[in-house]
Amino acid sequence: MKIGVLGSGDVARTLATGFLKHGHEVTVGSRTPAKLDDWKRANPGGRTGTFSDAAAFGEAVALAVKGSVAADALRVAGAAHLAGKTVIDAANPIADAPVANGVLRFFTDLNESLMEKLQKEFASAHFVKAFNSVGAGCMVNPQFKGGRPTMFICGNNEAAKGTVAGILDQFGWEVADMGKAEAARAIEPLCMLWCIPGFLRNDWVHAFKLLR
Ligand SMILES: NC(=O)c1ccc[n+]([C@@H]2O[C@H](COP(=O)([O-])OP(=O)(O)OC[C@H]3O[C@@H](n4cnc5c(N)ncnc54)[C@H](OP(=O)(O)O)[C@@H]3O)[C@@H](O)[C@H]2O)c1
Repeated sequence: MKIGVLGSGDVARTLATGFLKHGHEVTVGSRTPAKLDDWKRANPGGRTGTFSDAAAFGEAVALAVKGSVAADALRVAGAAHLAGKTVIDAANPIADAPVANGVLRFFTDLNESLMEKLQKEFASAHFVKAFNSVGAGCMVNPQFKGGRPTMFICGNNEAAKGTVAGILDQFGWEVADMGKAEAARAIEPLCMLWCIPGFLRNDWVHAFKLLR
């Protein structure tokens, strides 16, 4: 499928390269598209442009910008370019505050997630939380002794979750669907948990697995 990626950081670049690897068409967007020139040289099959170019291009859109500016980036991308589309939401609501004993601070609270706020503002888009609970280096076809790790997802639209589940399967994940948008209140803080071994012990290579 055609996927527009919003962002120029590690997550945007990693997901965009992963989408190309798995046969999708990609346009990656930034406020300053020249920031992506090196990505374009390394990935000649991909395109780059503005946030608006990327959102207009995608049948699905991946949101990979700083959480505190996610709404701004989506406004610049254009609500009309998101209408009816799956938005793969990798953003975390990390506050600009010091880490305390390895624990990040969020600007949200446990009764309203970033994704719910975005879903309310961009009501005709279909947000699906995904890829937020693992580091960029492990997002695409991670190799762990314990087998396929689990990606926890949620969102209000079943078809959109099906689209994201298909991509996650290609990317080597098993999918645990946690239900509607409110479940992002629990999935977003997995980012905090995931980062603790990194901040405390410089251990950034791990992922969660749901056992039954
Ligand atoms: N890094 C990881 O391993 C990881 C893992 C899971 C989830 N996440 C989450 O994924 C998201 C992306 O993370 P990242 O580390 O790749 O990059 P990041 O440094 O968190 O974000 C970089 C992006 O934010 C955009 N941005 C910054 N200020 C902006 C503004 N005022 N208006 C619009 N856009 C603005 C930048 O746009 P321009 O291109 O225009 O400069 C850039 O594309 C974050 O929400 C993060 O919490 C990160």
